[in-house]
Amino acid sequence: MTNKTVYLNGHYVPLDEAKISVMDRGFLFGDGVYEVIPCYLGHLFHFQAHVDRLTASLAGIGMVNPYSTQQWLEIFKPLIDNSENQYIYLQITRGVAPKRDHAFPDNIQPTIFAMCNNIMPFAGLETGVKAITLEDSRWKFCNIKAIALLAHLLLRQEAVEQDCAEAILIKDGVVTEGAASNVFALIDGVLVTPLKDNRILAGITRDVILELAEKNNIPCREDNISASELKTATEIWVTSSTREIIPVVELDGNPVADGKVGTVWHTMNTIFQAYKQSLL
Ligand code: PDD
Repeated sequence: MTNKTVYLNGHYVPLDEAKISVMDRGFLFGDGVYEVIPCYLGHLFHFQAHVDRLTASLAGIGMVNPYSTQQWLEIFKPLIDNSENQYIYLQITRGVAPKRDHAFPDNIQPTIFAMCNNIMPFAGLETGVKAITLEDSRWKFCNIKAIALLAHLLLRQEAVEQDCAEAILIKDGVVTEGAASNVFALIDGVLVTPLKDNRILAGITRDVILELAEKNNIPCREDNISASELKTATEIWVTSSTREIIPVVELDGNPVADGKVGTVWHTMNTIFQAYKQSLL
């Protein structure tokens, strides 16, 4: 990795000089939240929605967003290469405390870190990917974009070890989301995605897809998807800021419909790419 410039607590420094204390509560407890914001050729994608989700995540752990949307923009600008498709990774922890104590310390400054990386084209975009279903082993506040991702990591790793790109999670018999993505399924000709509640992260990509589906008369709804409905879905997609809309062509070793990338995915991906272009 090149020694690029990153942002840490008000300073722009080379990556290998960006250091935090081992007493940082992000390090000791995973006590913090993060955002991943796409930035296409210098244009931040649905920036306000990302800032709003950040504010909600911070509120979810008893913290306040320290900056306005405009101030965040000023912070990120020096990190961005306008000739690349990139994403900003922003992490805010509760900060460095004098001692390791589970309860929140008084009067500490948050640790704020941001870096910008290129979005690598995802190999499975055109061909589709394999996924497995796994029991959702996570906690009750999946709406908070928490940096404590150990459950997500174990789930993703299990998928990878089974030669799959994603784990689709099932809680109490219904689909929640992917280990690092939201899920869409085409059921009886309707594009369905799970409801926004504390079982899932409110994906920005998810919201954009719903908006675009409505505008383009693609039938869609937010609803529960049972594990058995997922098995017989004619298309399954997993969506995120860094991978966009990925078609799943094999689930638990069985083909999704005929095992080929579906026509609704082709339509939506074309609409999505055109929409991205329209914002530049
Ligand atoms: N993750 N659900 C989970 C658990 C996620 O981690 C993500 C994205 C999403 C999709 O959200 P969005 O469309 O806003 O990216 C849903 C990011 C990309 C990550 O952790 O790197």
